[in-house]
Amino acid sequence: MGRLDGKIAIITGAASGIGLATVRRFVAEGARVVAVDLPTSDIDEELGAQDAVHIIKIDVTTPEAPETIVQAAVERFRGIDILFNNAGAAPTAPLEDTDVELLRRIMALNVEAILRLTQRAVPEMRKRGGGRIINTGSITSFYAVPDCAAYAISKHAVASLTKSMCIEYGADNITANYICPGAIVTGMTREVVEENTEFRDFWARKSVFGRWGEPDDIAGPVVFLASDDARFVTGHGLVIDGGATQNL
Ligand SMILES: NC(=O)c1ccc[n+]([C@@H]2O[C@H](COP(=O)([O-])OP(=O)(O)OC[C@H]3O[C@@H](n4cnc5c(N)ncnc54)[C@H](O)[C@@H]3O)[C@@H](O)[C@H]2O)c1
Repeated sequence: MGRLDGKIAIITGAASGIGLATVRRFVAEGARVVAVDLPTSDIDEELGAQDAVHIIKIDVTTPEAPETIVQAAVERFRGIDILFNNAGAAPTAPLEDTDVELLRRIMALNVEAILRLTQRAVPEMRKRGGGRIINTGSITSFYAVPDCAAYAISKHAVASLTKSMCIEYGADNITANYICPGAIVTGMTREVVEENTEFRDFWARKSVFGRWGEPDDIAGPVVFLASDDARFVTGHGLVIDGGATQNL
């Protein structure tokens, strides 16, 4: 018995890193998954042809994305139980160079796309008697990190947005939680991890385990939040950082 047997999930940012690891874990746990990533991504090569996976190549910030993604889930798998809003990007810039254009671009992806896809997915969850929403925040959902002002603003907003989802969708038997990964080796960070040893060592030392996290360190906790075991967990920000934020 898988922990997600019979469940239907949408996972965005599914071609790489945390999203890709989570698609694989969800399928192993018995879920069927609509896996979403950019048209330019190599999501087909990463996931291959599988009965349990339906790939959609679309930019989640486009106006047509919510309808396209939800329609595909309904037509291919007959509904939606779990929505993992995970696609995101992390531009780095000092606060002084953070102009409105940068802020708008990152808010469109890290926040607005989550809001719009969730609004379109929730009616389908209601038809199935409930659901699970999991949004990807960050430890910057509650801390500042140098040169990450726009990113941290967006991730603080993910926390706030999730809390609103928690109180407004609870009556529909829908839980809403956000995960707060620490430093994880993914497509977003791989280059800087390889090239900037000071940065790499700083975050490795911060974790009480002396290492960066791997995408699979995040996928397991996401399975828990998506499972029946998490039915009374909602409005929660789950920190998954190897103890880094406890380690002053
Ligand atoms: N890696 C870390 O250390 C870390 C820490 C905290 C939070 N996060 C968050 O985790 C999430 C996943 O990132 P990751 O670290 O796995 O990075 P990643 O770059 O490996 O994966 C992100 C995926 O999102 C996709 N994506 C980006 N913009 C998109 C768009 N407009 N439409 C559709 N897909 C899009 C990318 O193509 C990519 O496949 C992000 O929200 C990120 O902010 C990452």
